Amino acid sequence: MINVAVLGYGTIGSGVVEVLQTNAAVIAKRVGEDIAVKYILDLRDFPGNPNADKVVHDYDIIDKDSDIQVVVECMGGVEPAYTFVKKALLNGKSVATSNKELVAKHGAELIAIAREKNINFLFEASVGGGIPIVRPLLRCLTADVIEEVSGILNGTTNYMLTRMGEEGLSFEEALKEAQEKGYAELHPEADVEGYDACRKVAILSSLAFGQQVDFEDIYTEGITKITAEDFCYAAKMKKSIKLLGSSWKTDDKFYAMVCPMLLDNEHPLSGVKDVFNAIFVRGNMVDETMFYGKGAGKLPTASAVAADVIDCAKHIGKNIKILWEPEKLTLSDLGNFER
Ligand code: HSE
Repeated sequence: MINVAVLGYGTIGSGVVEVLQTNAAVIAKRVGEDIAVKYILDLRDFPGNPNADKVVHDYDIIDKDSDIQVVVECMGGVEPAYTFVKKALLNGKSVATSNKELVAKHGAELIAIAREKNINFLFEASVGGGIPIVRPLLRCLTADVIEEVSGILNGTTNYMLTRMGEEGLSFEEALKEAQEKGYAELHPEADVEGYDACRKVAILSSLAFGQQVDFEDIYTEGITKITAEDFCYAAKMKKSIKLLGSSWKTDDKFYAMVCPMLLDNEHPLSGVKDVFNAIFVRGNMVDETMFYGKGAGKLPTASAVAADVIDCAKHIGKNIKILWEPEKLTLSDLGNFER
């Protein structure tokens, strides 16, 4: 039996518990033993919830329990997530997280600790929600030099742009819908100002290029300046408006940015609507590949976190090597590139 502790019982954390419990039988077959949620760390109590007896309010209980082999972090934000995750890894517990802020800021350090301790720090759900993208980059495309990773990386803004462009909803109406569907971040500026997509570009670039790409270095512009008039002009030009996040390598220079773009209606990303995300990866051997699916939402994101829990359980005492060195990669000035 592999015992798991889930930190944070919000949308994603409760989704992970649901996935692990609903699919327990098939997961046990794949792992070779049962995976059980022993603790849920949250500030709140959940009276009437079938998992209420698992709720604890003190991380030390989890820290001190040597039965816990995998910690699932779904709290979001850098602190206290960073403190808890670092403690877990230093104590020999593998970690699966959906937290892009944590991974973008401390990924290189946490990966190094996991390597040192012969355990794992996995973060598939931190980019693209339910879409497999981290694992394909690390495993399936590992024979390639990655030249470009780009696409639609934020489900909330893609949902909003779709509803504003196709149904004429106002910015506020579209945001409210995205919040009601559980796509949006706690602080919606993280989505609409492009900060969430920026952290995802930082993670993908760090993995693609094998070195630390700081999110502060990525030119970032969100969707707050887009008006109904912009959608009218876009429709007249047979184009759609999409928030794109991109990073690429030309000769020996690296570039990265997040900003709204006009795309021809025939462009493959134009058809990516609502909460869906799509990510292009171009390698020097494989050429272009594209990954598509639900980029946000409870169960799609929880499915990716649970898959990492399974990978941690299948690799107890064995580190899955992730190349993400802490040395900073300097991005080139966007004024100097030609595409
Ligand atoms: N708020 C994020 C999004 C959640 O809309 O894409 C998934 O990272």
